[in-house]
Amino acid sequence: MYTLGEFIIENRDRFTYSTESLLRLFSSIKLAAKAINKEVNKAGLTEKIGSTGITNVQGENQQKLDNFAHKVFIESFKSRNVVCGIASEESKDFILIGENENIGQNKYIVLIDPLDGSSNIDVNVSIGTIFSVYIRKSSMQIDLSIEDFLQKGNQQILSGYIIYGSSTILVYTTGNGVHGFTLDPSVGTFYLSHPNLHFPKIEKIYSINEGNYERFPKGIKNFIKYCQEKKESRPYTARYIGSLVGDFHRNMIQGGIYIYPQTAHSPNGKLRLLYECNPIAFLTEQAGGKASDGKKRILDIEPLYLHQRTPFICGSFSMVSKLEEFIKIETNNNK
Ligand code: AHG
Ligand code: MN
Ligand code: MN
Repeated sequence: MYTLGEFIIENRDRFTYSTESLLRLFSSIKLAAKAINKEVNKAGLTEKIGSTGITNVQGENQQKLDNFAHKVFIESFKSRNVVCGIASEESKDFILIGENENIGQNKYIVLIDPLDGSSNIDVNVSIGTIFSVYIRKSSMQIDLSIEDFLQKGNQQILSGYIIYGSSTILVYTTGNGVHGFTLDPSVGTFYLSHPNLHFPKIEKIYSINEGNYERFPKGIKNFIKYCQEKKESRPYTARYIGSLVGDFHRNMIQGGIYIYPQTAHSPNGKLRLLYECNPIAFLTEQAGGKASDGKKRILDIEPLYLHQRTPFICGSFSMVSKLEEFIKIETNNNK
């Protein structure tokens, strides 16, 4: 059974950048994931459930585990000499890492949603972490700038997530397929359990918060009706956890579509482009699926600011293409 480290070394020729830096990036990610996993597993017994009483930059209620996960990742990246800056859902501005003589050598930029699915923390439902990695654009000799973080998703060199579910799984891509590793908590090691993850041909699941139905654009409403129609392989099954990581993971394994559209209340949707949609979109495409804002490819969107939101659709290629058709029809009808 391959460990994550062995797998990276075995596949070193497939990664364009240095294997050593990839190993160091993963060393930080694994360390933080294990620390968070431990807290998640005993959340009901400790002081880690509930709110911090603080509203984060998103205007959302910050949970204690959001804050804990954010801090653990920052500390973990600081302890390994590989990253120069991090942007997190839980911090308004980007954070500089590496105040030492080696700062000039750290060229990796990390964007992170430290704890995804916060509303599920207190009720023992799957939550996750999402990460996205780029190479800095600015010269090593000058300070990092916001442009280093505002890169298009198609520039990502690594993305992935950790799902703290019935087991803890780390899934990543560097542009050579999607691979999943399950944590064996008794030894604290991630082992290869899901090589070459790929959306199956079957169209099975649609995932959307249907409570917002009345606020959805017409094209989305029509697509929901289409999913429920008794025809061909439909009706599809509705499944919605409310943790993007969990909903995506299930849909990639079983075949399905995840939708968080714009609504009358949030014209840009809810999910954040840089540390939720782009990393999941990179994985989606690597798994043979499609990720779109309804009209265009997520990975080609030019980011304008750190906490930018976008409507988000991802999943099985044929299902996402079908929804895009529904949206196009409505756009043309409104012309
Ligand atoms: P986060 O906990 O990082 O703020 O993300 C929550 C996101 C996403 O994971 C999930 O799919 C979505 O919000 C759920 O939103 P609704 O409760 O509006 O359906
Ligand atoms: Mn999230
Ligand atoms: Mn979050």
